[in-house]
Amino acid sequence: MLQERISDLSGYVEPDRVRREVYTDARIFDLEMERIHERMWIYCGHESQVPRAGDYYTVQIGRQPMLMVRGKDGKVRVLYNRCPHRGNMMCGDRHGNAGEFFRCSYHAWTFHHDGKLRSIPMMESGYQGTRFGKGNPDCSMKPAARVESYRGFVFASLSPEGVSLKEFLGASRIAFDDMCDRAPEGEVEVVPNCFRVIQHSNWKIFLENQLDALHPSVTHQSTGRAAHEVEKEIARKTKKGEAPLSYHMLSAFATVTIDKWDAFQTLNYPYGHCILTGYMGLRPQDPDTLAYDKIMIKAYGKKRFEEIVGVNIHHVLIYPGLSVQSPLQQLRAVRPLGVDRTLTEIWHFRLKGAPEAIYRRSLAYYNLVNSPATLVNADDLENFWKCHQGLSSDGGDWVTFGRHFGRDIEKPGVVETGPNMGTSEAPMRNQMKAWAKYMEGAR
Ligand code: FES
Ligand SMILES: [Fe+2]
Repeated sequence: MLQERISDLSGYVEPDRVRREVYTDARIFDLEMERIHERMWIYCGHESQVPRAGDYYTVQIGRQPMLMVRGKDGKVRVLYNRCPHRGNMMCGDRHGNAGEFFRCSYHAWTFHHDGKLRSIPMMESGYQGTRFGKGNPDCSMKPAARVESYRGFVFASLSPEGVSLKEFLGASRIAFDDMCDRAPEGEVEVVPNCFRVIQHSNWKIFLENQLDALHPSVTHQSTGRAAHEVEKEIARKTKKGEAPLSYHMLSAFATVTIDKWDAFQTLNYPYGHCILTGYMGLRPQDPDTLAYDKIMIKAYGKKRFEEIVGVNIHHVLIYPGLSVQSPLQQLRAVRPLGVDRTLTEIWHFRLKGAPEAIYRRSLAYYNLVNSPATLVNADDLENFWKCHQGLSSDGGDWVTFGRHFGRDIEKPGVVETGPNMGTSEAPMRNQMKAWAKYMEGAR
């Protein structure tokens, strides 16, 4: 069937390069939605987005409008946002509270929070003797085939078959463990609401950029330099000779020069997930950090505390739709809208039980690095758009991922970049390897 629709898809992906149509062909996009986004585990949201019974949050999975809802039993479910009567979307708002039950705005069919049909106006007179009514599952809102959560992060798969969430996430679970373990109470809480950005480029261009250690000191150089100048100026004027940590978040783009990025490492896992090790030195000895450390030591003991804050990762990419920066409690969820349109939701979280100042640090990174207003994000967005434009042209057939190709260290279940090869394009090769498998029908 695949071959009928797109001839010889296997020729589109080679270990070190990919055909440009993979990013620009609408037929390939449709197959991606069918075989990847509407089949694999996709992040829906955090449980704290729906704290009370009846709370719902709408979310796009592949091409499907879905909603995440908490029931009276406390359980979080994911349902298709569609009325079984004549197909009306149940919830037109992005989020809200359904009250005691969902009520369709068209003809007032009502549904319990688990999607089961509750009532139809004049059901007896209108449907007696027909096949429609409470006994017919087609008259209830359809649930996602599978829903599981890991440490409060809810995922759904629209396919009844496939590996469990835990197995799918594998080593990338560290994203959620690292985020939650840094909370004295072992949990995080979402900060409503998120930033939403629509990028005029293919979804894979965003994901390939996430662990691209070669680009920050080039793409974000001007931002980094400007921040570094201000940082030095402030340092000169203060007694201790230090600028607030938030300046460091931006100046690192200039001070961590292109050659230094090779010193980091990427770890590449099955299903397309990848990890970039840490680089920013986020353990300053300021009073805020020391106060936080004290609370953490009380909660976990000295040994466990050292283990938790010693986790050395900066970025975890969970293919095909999530980019997590756990030490700063941020994540970006990727929602493809079309072959050249991608929505990203940019969320950040509070560490439960941590002092306000630690939250402010996360907020600063959220605003300064990940928000639509920052130059960092704008620099990336411009590249993404330009990449998509270039790939839509006849100027060449291939996207190349050849940097340090053939020098990766293959170990059971992980491909590591070699010593001093942090700028390897191994993460992109790993993503495309997984992509090809998914497109062949692997689950
Ligand atoms: S479409 Fe929902 S009640 Fe008619
Ligand atoms: Fe970037």
